[in-house]
Amino acid sequence: MPIPPAIEFKNVTKTYGENTVVDDLSLSVPAGKITVFVGPSGCGKTTSLRMINRMVEHTRGEILVDGHPNTGRPAHELRRSIGYVLQQAGLMPHRTIVDNIATVPVLKGVSTKEARDQALELLERVGLDRSFAKRYPAQLSGGQAQRVGVARALASGSSILLMDEPFSAVDPVVRSDLQNELLRLQRELGVTIIFVTHDIDEAITLGDQLAVFARGGRIAQFGTPEEILRQPADDFVASFVGRDRGMRRLTFASASDVTIHPLQALQTPWQNWQLKVDDGKPAGWLVDGRLIPGGSLYREGASLRDALDSVLSSPSGWGVAVDNEGKLLGLLKSDDVLDATETERQHRYGVGA
Ligand SMILES: Nc1ncnc2c1ncn2[C@@H]1O[C@H](COP(=O)(O)OP(=O)(O)OP(=O)(O)O)[C@@H](O)[C@H]1O
Ligand SMILES: [Mg+2]
Repeated sequence: MPIPPAIEFKNVTKTYGENTVVDDLSLSVPAGKITVFVGPSGCGKTTSLRMINRMVEHTRGEILVDGHPNTGRPAHELRRSIGYVLQQAGLMPHRTIVDNIATVPVLKGVSTKEARDQALELLERVGLDRSFAKRYPAQLSGGQAQRVGVARALASGSSILLMDEPFSAVDPVVRSDLQNELLRLQRELGVTIIFVTHDIDEAITLGDQLAVFARGGRIAQFGTPEEILRQPADDFVASFVGRDRGMRRLTFASASDVTIHPLQALQTPWQNWQLKVDDGKPAGWLVDGRLIPGGSLYREGASLRDALDSVLSSPSGWGVAVDNEGKLLGLLKSDDVLDATETERQHRYGVGA
């Protein structure tokens, strides 16, 4: 039996005076998955998100949360029952981290002690040590504050989390960690997440489903990242997913057909590159006695895009394949990888796609 949607927009419109900012939106958000609202600035993503928990009231249509119209109970009650994470974590500056997380449960009648105990567990869940509990928000980095924001949203006990550009203010490395942790948490807890972003790469990384918004709060396309990259519904979507579309969709292709060559493949008379291996793990390239750092590694079982990244980023032109423990498996030849990407392009998407 199909799982009923967690949230359903039925012909929802939002107007401010003459201005229609969300126009006849109909959309089913599946339970237990990550649905990403992605699109350019001003196209109604935040408004659509906030209409779910009635931080913004819709003008026409109906929004169902777990099958019930969201207007069926008081707005403040609805808001407390749905976790919400903002861009600037939105923490209360004069409260400690533990009390920031415990606020909503206490408002709902949980004892302070119980709410704090639960908050400490949540801190660990989002990858922060319990020693952060007594700090204040100003004493955290941007990435740490976002983790606390996520912990606080989870403390609502809700199976639904709304996240509005939560990672956009942190640097790319931290951002990628936060994305991976969110994926892990979502799998562990099986919650339904609606995540808003401008960033198509973030959308592809996180989303089980993407809703691409166009100006005027209209949905230009709704589908899996792969469907949208493979077959953009119109020129707007095609330009939004960008010229790198060909590269991005290699993310969904397997590199299992690419041969991993033994290290001896390097030993040709004209090759002066040598792979340095420490304790079974690749440690860089030796050329004429100098050690040059390697490029990105290809982990066995990863995508064709990862395989391509490994050969393109390698100073020697050979990709380095490792197993899940990081131990050397062998080498990828750039010709093999390029052949595989060409085959992929021809077989799956038609020549010239
Ligand atoms: N309270 C309001 N009164 C009038 N217009 C509003 C109000 N809130 C939002 N809007 C307008 O509604 C449109 C959609 O805004 P919204 O914040 O939903 O966009 P967004 O897609 O989240 O944009 P961004 O990516 O920049 O965050 C914008 O044109 C905005 O100016
Ligand atoms: Mg917004």
